Amino acid sequence: MTIVSELNDLAWWQKTIAYEVYPKSFLDTAGKGTGTLAGITQKLDYLQKLGVGALWITPCYKSPMVDNGYDVADYYHIDPSFGTMADMDELIARGRERGIRVVMDLVFNHTSEECAWFVESCSSRENDKADWYIWRDAKPDGSAPTNWRSIFGGSAWEWCEERQQFYLHTFAKQQPDLNWENPEVRKALFDIANFWVGKGVGGFRIDAITYIKKPSVFEDGDVDGADGLSAVHAATANTPGILDFLHEFKAAVRDGHDIFMVGEANGVDASELDQWVGERGVFDMLFEFSHTLIPMHKSEIWCRKVDWTLTDLKRVLVASQEATAKNGWYPAFWENHDQPRSTVNYFQCDGSLAKKAKVLGTVLLTTRGTPFLFQGEELGYGNAPWRSIDEFDDLSTRNQYEFALGEGFDEAGALAACVRYSRDNARTPMQWDASEHAGFSVGEPWLPVHDDYEACNVAAQEANADSPLAWYRRLASLRAEHPVLVAGDWNELMTDDEQVFAFERRLGDARAVTLANFSNKQAAYDPALVKGLKPITQTTLGELQPLESVVFV
Ligand code: GLC
Repeated sequence: MTIVSELNDLAWWQKTIAYEVYPKSFLDTAGKGTGTLAGITQKLDYLQKLGVGALWITPCYKSPMVDNGYDVADYYHIDPSFGTMADMDELIARGRERGIRVVMDLVFNHTSEECAWFVESCSSRENDKADWYIWRDAKPDGSAPTNWRSIFGGSAWEWCEERQQFYLHTFAKQQPDLNWENPEVRKALFDIANFWVGKGVGGFRIDAITYIKKPSVFEDGDVDGADGLSAVHAATANTPGILDFLHEFKAAVRDGHDIFMVGEANGVDASELDQWVGERGVFDMLFEFSHTLIPMHKSEIWCRKVDWTLTDLKRVLVASQEATAKNGWYPAFWENHDQPRSTVNYFQCDGSLAKKAKVLGTVLLTTRGTPFLFQGEELGYGNAPWRSIDEFDDLSTRNQYEFALGEGFDEAGALAACVRYSRDNARTPMQWDASEHAGFSVGEPWLPVHDDYEACNVAAQEANADSPLAWYRRLASLRAEHPVLVAGDWNELMTDDEQVFAFERRLGDARAVTLANFSNKQAAYDPALVKGLKPITQTTLGELQPLESVVFV
């Protein structure tokens, strides 16, 4: 009884598995070398077999694609490279038939410089949209209003000849920041979201949302790099007053609809979570990045590799679990389109990528929260073997390369840092089969297909019962069969162990234990931890083989 009611208390998006598609790299049905919406529709059966119920698609609106769609020119139209609005309607409808709801990505901190709003705003200081972006005069010496560095590198200000003023861009200069102080801007954005609610989407991922509120006074920050600039993040992330805007957003878009909103929330501290999610909050879930920062840039300078331990990683994962047990709900993820591949990122030992992918999948699919998979994660890709900086497409990676050179790295060192951390590692085409271009496209792919595609692809893994894909499908079914894995409490076990991440789930009388060996050495655990439970795979009680993970239910 209790188990059933605990499960019934959860919303559909808490009980399902979410999957992120980077549409440019998923499947091309038009032979142009870039993915299409029709390609996603074609793969709905594949997603259904993975237990997916929420399908987050990164921006596919009309865009000049400077940042692959995160520079939106028109939020009411699909970019022709992806197809048409009819293709989107078809995807939403066919998805619903399979219990898969489309989740749109709302880029509301900024637009593209080609958005009609910005074109008008630029044209003079007195037009209908004059105040829709963040405009400031130059300093008396003609330089930028502040010394802020944009997230993609270089000044966060760009000069506009027509207006004789600077505009602010938190990201690339082609991504001018909107002025949320203006109620007309907010209304225009909420109208867009409601247009998509009307299309029947299941929710929204909200991009870069912590930057929408700017400080009331703009001043120089402390210089924190060899370029003489100061990170814009320090000046503008999570500024007081931001929650007022977001409550208005929630009331206008979320309330009264059976949808969810997950915010991308760089800069929100666990201590503030109750104001951001849950009963008093503004979102259903928040992506926070504390665990991705452990292997990536625990040091001040992202490109300097740092040593970290499994317990460092466990501490932040546990903190997120504890915080979301009190407020809101946890969106569990290892990967997204901005991260390198997890099989490389979260391990410091050598060993099979397939085994590493299974270790990560075991944790992700049995932890408390909604698991968010990123395309290809279920196959266990590694990072791609980039050979030169010219092979990268991502504008952020190119800027990071320059930044690393500025920090005193030589060319080989700067390249090595980009190979390790580049967002393009996530963006190589999805590997469907062993045919040319991995079955992604009959045309020349926009980004090279990973060298390993002949061995690592969906078709090969479907035929192999021991593959990462088979394991992810198995775990998805397990989750569906055992309410404890969805609605159960979460408690860490073996807290200080440097090899094993272990936790238990409890719901009424039901209990499940996950044990994941992140090292390539044998590890031991106390069999009493799993007393009365059965392993879902063959295993030696009390012992974990190198990179072995197991669930007991
Ligand atoms: C978010 C997106 C990233 C994009 C940036 C600017 O961080 O995830 O891909 O480049 O916002 O929109």
